[in-house]
Amino acid sequence: MTLSEVLSNLVSDRFYEMVFLHEKRKNKMKIVMLGAPGAGKGTQAKMIAEKYTIPHISTGDIFRANIKEGTPLGLEAKSYMDQGKLVPDELTVKILLDRVAKDDCRNGYVLDGFPRTIPQANVLKEALEKQNDKIDYAINVDVPDENIVRRMSGRRACVTCGATYHIEHVPPKKEGICDKCGSELILRDDDKPETVLNRLKIYHDQTQPLIDFYSNEGILKEVDGTIDVKDVFENITKILG
Ligand code: AP5
Ligand code: MG
Repeated sequence: MTLSEVLSNLVSDRFYEMVFLHEKRKNKMKIVMLGAPGAGKGTQAKMIAEKYTIPHISTGDIFRANIKEGTPLGLEAKSYMDQGKLVPDELTVKILLDRVAKDDCRNGYVLDGFPRTIPQANVLKEALEKQNDKIDYAINVDVPDENIVRRMSGRRACVTCGATYHIEHVPPKKEGICDKCGSELILRDDDKPETVLNRLKIYHDQTQPLIDFYSNEGILKEVDGTIDVKDVFENITKILG
């Protein structure tokens, strides 16, 4: 073999490897975030979406946007959310499947707050299987209940863009004002302590079983959510590569 043939083979192997790895990564970014209310799913999902250039899809954010616009969906969702209850599966599943069918989801997405019940997980699994596809990672952000109520009462959310802060751990530059868009920051209605306790109970009854569901699928990854936001993210990027 001549030197130029050897070089050409090396280049094509390297090229193949680059393309292959790129394709592999592109197809390996369907992520589900698991964790109790307030565990930091939204905080981490936003950072994942930015780093890997995939959409961040939060069913809670979709409902809150509808509430703000006063749509029929928003009105219906609000009646459940204000009590800390789950919005019925029929409503939630349709919204989610419509969203992941959009063009920007073809290289993956990070789901935050969906699935939240075993039936939701099964519907998602079946819908993906029909396209010969699957979820690649389920990341459980683990935070014990005792930390949750304290965290939620300190959370502040932007009324306009939905960005979240924490008065102690992730404070905005100017108190009560969103760094990103300058709007007012508020305590979400469902972050009041009595509603948080109800959300936690529902989490343990209906959502926590998803940890076993995804463990059985062989894609569960656990991260400690009690450490600093940046360190949680660093541990997630070690998993995602
Ligand atoms: P949703 O909006 O999904 O609420 P949730 O699951 O209760 O979760 P949160 O958004 O409250 O918490 P998070 O884990 O995103 O934490 P965050 O990053 O903000 O859903 C709301 C409601 O909509 C539900 O109750 C339900 O009614 C309905 N709904 C939505 N999806 C549904 C579905 N699939 N089916 C049925 N109903 C559905 O962080 C929390 C706070 O902690 C912030 O202040 C943050 O700054 C701070 N923080 C984050 N990480 C850290 C850290 N490492 N250290 C210290 N502070 C931190
Ligand atoms: Mg959230």
